[in-house]
Amino acid sequence: MKFFLDTANLEEIKLANALGVLEGVTTNPTLVAKEGASFHDRLREITEIVPGSVSAEVISEQANDMVEEGKELAKIAPNITVKIPMTLEGLKAVKSLSELNIKTNMTLIFNANQALLAARAGATYVSPFIGRLDDIGHSGMELIGTIAAIFDQHTIETKIIAASIRHPMHITEAAQQGAHIATVPFDILRKLVEHPLTDAGIKRFLADWNSRI
Ligand code: E4P
Repeated sequence: MKFFLDTANLEEIKLANALGVLEGVTTNPTLVAKEGASFHDRLREITEIVPGSVSAEVISEQANDMVEEGKELAKIAPNITVKIPMTLEGLKAVKSLSELNIKTNMTLIFNANQALLAARAGATYVSPFIGRLDDIGHSGMELIGTIAAIFDQHTIETKIIAASIRHPMHITEAAQQGAHIATVPFDILRKLVEHPLTDAGIKRFLADWNSRI
């Protein structure tokens, strides 16, 4: 499983990129609005830091408008992936954009049928939202496993991005369930590194080194 960062914050992206584990970035209108930056400018800045896929979400709701918006977003940089919400209009837009060889990430996926439809329409990625499913008493993780099994059984190449990640166990479990990618908020990426026994081990090694005769 690969790591994408789920943010539009440049400092976080630079820090994660320096770790050598970052294969892409996902943004959404909420994340970009939080930054207060111009949408296109911010996306351009992100694509200049990260060579991998950078998801940029459309805000239109009709297929034709989504396609036009997607074409404009795709002009920003070759590594832009156009993020489209899972609706009938969204599926039409995914089909059109994939015919234009523009990569797409179908977002707001909450069941396996939505994921299968997105894949068949030509989506490069599907983004099941684990945390938001957990929030309403469903199992986000079970959904990842179900989608992975279906894609495997039918030799579907669409990649599964585990999204709406809330804690480190989501990462381990998404990897076990067969997600290809997890898109992770920066504070959770940091938590993946930390362990109290690692800190205690470093402290002890240094104390022993400094007490050598
Ligand atoms: C990423 O593609 C999603 O937009 C994001 O992970 C949603 O996360 P949230 O449910 O924490 O808003």
